[in-house]
Amino acid sequence: MRRICIIAAICLACAPQPTLAQEGAIASGAAVYEENCSTCHGEQLRPTGAAPDLKNLGADDRQKFETMVLNGRGQMPSWKGAISDDERAAIWAYIRSRAQ
Ligand code: HEC
Repeated sequence: MRRICIIAAICLACAPQPTLAQEGAIASGAAVYEENCSTCHGEQLRPTGAAPDLKNLGADDRQKFETMVLNGRGQMPSWKGAISDDERAAIWAYIRSRAQ
């Protein structure tokens, strides 16, 4: 019983921090972002004025993000087939980790 309590306490203590898997996604998302998106959306998500500041996307905007990246709009290219589902999820994790 006592051991279970200790494990529960450790889990609770860790909960607010990103897990290793999340950190991996954030790092690979940053790499995919820098390679494909930074020319317009700015290096390290610093806006250039040419395209919207992606840090302004809220936690609820996931669907908007998905639709935009898959379909594109105007000057924003479509990335369908060019960026995998995992890469898209990783970019989202990266953007959210830098959100203001
Ligand atoms: C050639 C320049 C260019 C590149 C490269 C580019 N974008 Fe965009 N993006 C734009 C422009 C311009 C818009 C605004 C389009 C509009 O609203 O009509 C935009 C809009 C968006 C939006 C919607 C933002 C909002 O607040 O409405 C998202 C999400 C987005 N881009 C993600 C990405 C991601 C992720 C990548 C890399 C895989 C990327 N973009 C690469 C130019 C670009």
